[in-house]
Amino acid sequence: MLYIIDSAHIELIKKCAEFYPIDGVTTNPTIISKEKTDFIKLIKEIRSIIGPDKMFHVQTTSTDCKDIVEEGLRLRELMGENFYLKIPVSPEGLKATMELKKQGVGITMTAIFTQQQALIGAKAGADFVAPYVNRLDNIVSDGVHVVSEIVNLFKVHNINSKVLAASFKTAEQVHKIAMVGTQAITINPELFEQLVYHPLTLYAVDDFEADWASVYGNQKIIDMIK
Ligand code: E4P
Repeated sequence: MLYIIDSAHIELIKKCAEFYPIDGVTTNPTIISKEKTDFIKLIKEIRSIIGPDKMFHVQTTSTDCKDIVEEGLRLRELMGENFYLKIPVSPEGLKATMELKKQGVGITMTAIFTQQQALIGAKAGADFVAPYVNRLDNIVSDGVHVVSEIVNLFKVHNINSKVLAASFKTAEQVHKIAMVGTQAITINPELFEQLVYHPLTLYAVDDFEADWASVYGNQKIIDMIK
């Protein structure tokens, strides 16, 4: 499963890129706006932190096909390889997806809330479809159920598009989404840290250190192998 970081916060992205096996970064206009800084400078900096080999998904701010296509082409030029234009699913967005695919631009169809939106987005040529798990849970729907049906639909119909589940608030949502075979998830850096952290791991490491020190003091293995 691909782990993608849903953030435009430079320091947090730097930390995730250094310490965790992440596959890329996603942003959306809300996430970008929080940084209150020059948009182009920001996305260039994110690209330089994660490097050219990791995926970078940047969302269009246009709503009509002509402008979405133009934005997609210019952003691809700026961001290079492994760039995906996020396009919210809509008639104009689907038309833009079909046009941009012909020009080889990677597409993530986003703001997906139903199985049919995902299927139609995939048919239009989206490389990824992004269903919103927590926002579905918030309306007393079932984000995990919707995502699991999209994953199954893609299997049954032999569709190559991948499911990039988005909008997470809890580690439990992440775990359940992973269990249904979702190919990719995007989560904020704080939630990523929660997935790694466990107090019992810290206790275990403390015990290992104390037991070692009781016999070998402060000697390290690297000092023992010359
Ligand atoms: C990512 O692609 C989505 O834009 C994002 O995960 C939405 O998350 P939210 O529901 O927490 O805003």
